[in-house]
Amino acid sequence: MALDLTKYIASVPDYPEKGVIFRDISPLMADGAAYREATDKLVDYAKDKGAEMVVGPEARGFIVGCPIAYELGIGFAPARKQGKLPRETVKATYDLEYGTSALYLHKDAIKPGQKVLVTDDLLATGGTISATIKLVEELGGIVVGTAFIIELKDLHGREKISDYDIFSLMEY
Ligand code: PRP
Ligand code: ADE
Repeated sequence: MALDLTKYIASVPDYPEKGVIFRDISPLMADGAAYREATDKLVDYAKDKGAEMVVGPEARGFIVGCPIAYELGIGFAPARKQGKLPRETVKATYDLEYGTSALYLHKDAIKPGQKVLVTDDLLATGGTISATIKLVEELGGIVVGTAFIIELKDLHGREKISDYDIFSLMEY
């Protein structure tokens, strides 16, 4: 029987700052059946979209993206924060719900024309995923879909990526 995956999300008020409700996926990752079920649903989506490559932003995008890539037998490329990738990179800056940051991808991470699933644990303002999409497209990749465990409706991230297909397992 399908699990209620919302039961595996911990909601933490006023973290990391007052007014933010932090939606913590770690109880979901800690439960083998829940992690598998969430991953399986994201894998089905990625398969439907014909993804040939998965890209996820540091750090929680790795937790979500790597098992999808593994299950489909396709590659995973990490979009990383400053100073983490050793070879030539492309860079995109973005705003967060709390702060600003930049993401980088190795220049050879994506082949031109490759169909890419961009994935992360959570869609909030959409800044992180927009930056990740920008990096993929700068390298000539085609973003066939975006996939999340959680979507925070009030932060309207969906509007920022309205040109793309969006799949999320739950909404708050
Ligand atoms: C969190 C989360 C998403 C992003 C969503 O990452 O994992 O990547 O924020 O917010 P947005 O839609 O407003 O951009 P964070 O930057 O906290 O980094 P982490 O994954 O390393 O914890
Ligand atoms: N990233 C951005 N906003 C977040 C939130 N409310 N909970 C967890 N991760 C986040």
